[in-house]
Amino acid sequence: METVVSGIRPTGNLHLGNYFGAVKNFIKMQNDYNCYFFIADWHSLTTRPNPENIINSARTILAEYLACGIDPEKATIYIQSDVKEVLELYLYLNMNAYLGELERTTTFKEKARQQPDNVNAGLLTYPTLMAADIIIHKAVKVPVGKDQEQNMEMARKFARRFNSMYNIEFFPEPASFTFSSQAVKIPGLDGSGKMGKSDGNCIYLYEDAAAIRKKVMKAVTDSGPAGMNTEKPEVIQNLFTFLDIVSTKDTYDYFNDKWNDGTIRYGDLKKQLAEDIVAFNEPIRERIAEYMANTELLDKIARQGAEKARESASKTIKEVRQIIGFR
Ligand code: ADP
Ligand code: TRP
Repeated sequence: METVVSGIRPTGNLHLGNYFGAVKNFIKMQNDYNCYFFIADWHSLTTRPNPENIINSARTILAEYLACGIDPEKATIYIQSDVKEVLELYLYLNMNAYLGELERTTTFKEKARQQPDNVNAGLLTYPTLMAADIIIHKAVKVPVGKDQEQNMEMARKFARRFNSMYNIEFFPEPASFTFSSQAVKIPGLDGSGKMGKSDGNCIYLYEDAAAIRKKVMKAVTDSGPAGMNTEKPEVIQNLFTFLDIVSTKDTYDYFNDKWNDGTIRYGDLKKQLAEDIVAFNEPIRERIAEYMANTELLDKIARQGAEKARESASKTIKEVRQIIGFR
């Protein structure tokens, strides 16, 4: 069975972008692959979270993973910092990761711009840690959203480099994975291209009906179609992207026809969209609350996941040590 790895940093709650860009695929893939889904708490240290927040943030994402339907009986769910073997591989990979290529990644440049007073080495070597996360389990598929493509490119490069340095076909090259032909990018409803925590434009899975309605009704639109069958400007396309993911095909077609004949009323569309998001969120929201109230269960699941993940990771590290020459 092919191995799959993916992770999300515990820097906030899961939002619809995370769900439709990544988690939805986790849920589908757990049935057919050997899956490892983890919480990237080491990665979150690049932005200096405070100690009290670390455990709670990890528990939150864990509860949200479970509430979405990731099943610990099917997939291995673990917290990154429980699997120390990853750090050893991170070190080996860093020895052959070059300053130039790390500095050139857009995510690094972006972060360096966002936090100019904290351009740390962890930020620089973020892609090596991510590569270690993936190849430690010899994963071939990685369900992530479109924004992770460059990190995935680096992961493949580091895997290839290791193989060619030691002249051995050891690590498979991991590929980004989505079920659709294109990587998914969920837009923001504020007219921006992407829903993201740092953009402050998220609809979170835990949010209730009132909060969701408020956010959707405030979504940016324009003054309406200029005629019949015109192309949709980005802000309107964004709304349709949402209809496409949470509403029925009939609803989508209804508003699409209204757009095409020039009679669309954005207020109606937003109302419908808000209700469809509420309906989507509601059961997940209830389950998040249930899991959050049961920290004992969460900790047990994390413990069992760590054990399984360590088994796989230590096997790889043992072989890597041999290959490198530590015997
Ligand atoms: P954020 O951008 O809010 O900080 P993360 O970077 O923690 O989210 O992303 C976690 C996962 O969710 C990654 O696989 C990422 O590709 C995916 N993801 C996040 N936002 C989106 C989005 N707007 N569209 C598609 N996928 C997304
Ligand atoms: N970089 C990913 C993000 O920002 C999180 C991540 C860390 C990850 N390690 C990974 C994703 C390994 C997939 C596989 O969302």
